[in-house]
Order: sequence, then C-alpha cells, then structure tokens
Amino acid sequence: MVVIGSDHGGFELKERIKDFLRELGEEVEDVGVFSEESCDYPDIAKEVAIRVAQNGSKGILICGTGIGMSIAANKIKGVRCALCHDAYTAEFARRHNNANILAFGGRTTGVEIAKQMVKIFLSTEFDGGRHQRRINKISDLEAL
Ligand code: RB5
Repeated sequence: MVVIGSDHGGFELKERIKDFLRELGEEVEDVGVFSEESCDYPDIAKEVAIRVAQNGSKGILICGTGIGMSIAANKIKGVRCALCHDAYTAEFARRHNNANILAFGGRTTGVEIAKQMVKIFLSTEFDGGRHQRRINKISDLEAL
C-alpha cells in the first residue's frame, strides 16, 4: 500500500504518479487534493504522515518544491520523510535513512525522474547495521 498526497503545486504530477503506481501493481490510497485549487500543504502532509506512521506503509508527498511537505511530515513521530531529486538520493533515502515517505516537487521534478525515484524508493531495502544506530538516534530526538 502506498499513500499519496499533494497540494495544488503537486496535483498534476500526483495524478501521473498514481497511474504509474498502479502500473507497478501497487495499491494506492490518495488523500488528495483532487483539483488545482489553492490549499495548505501541511493539511495533506498530516494525512499521509499519520497513515504511514500508523500502518507501516510507504508514502509519497508532492508540493511545489517538496520542501514544505517534507518539513511538515517530519513533525509526525515515526516519520522519516526524504526530499529527493534524483535516483541517487531516492536510493540512499532508503538504504541509509530508512525513509518511509518520499517527497519531491511538482514544479522542480520532471515526470520521468519522479517515476524513477518512486520505483527505486519502493524497491530498495534499508541497509541496517550502523545505519540502524543512527535511525535510533533520530527516534530519540522525537522525545525532546
Ligand atoms: C505553494 O505555492 C507552495 O508554497 C507549496 O506547494 C510548496 O512548494 C511549499 O513548500
């Protein structure tokens, strides 16, 4: 299961990525938005992040730049949202950071790069080992 959401700045790309996820055989939950009408990205980041934290599913968030979505989603305990720009950052967001949400920008990222990142993000495992120690230290920060 992949939970996806965008604001108006990411709406068009979200629709393309939703089709791509279904081509990949993924079950998709779309929490909105459903038009290009202006909205507030933290509302959508919250919906995706809470589902990911509760269900252990993966999420995708798209706003104009991906920045606001990633900042907002990372406020939710258990969420590690990575703003990625290419295949390399998407791969290492999984391998080293065990990211559970991928964020990118509808105004900064082309559809082919976005598809490439999504495919890599969903198929790459966490490396564990020394990286688990670092993830544990991130979790400790959630208590501050
Ligand atoms: C909306 O105009 C824009 O600010 C938003 O999509 C996002 O880029 C924020 O980080």
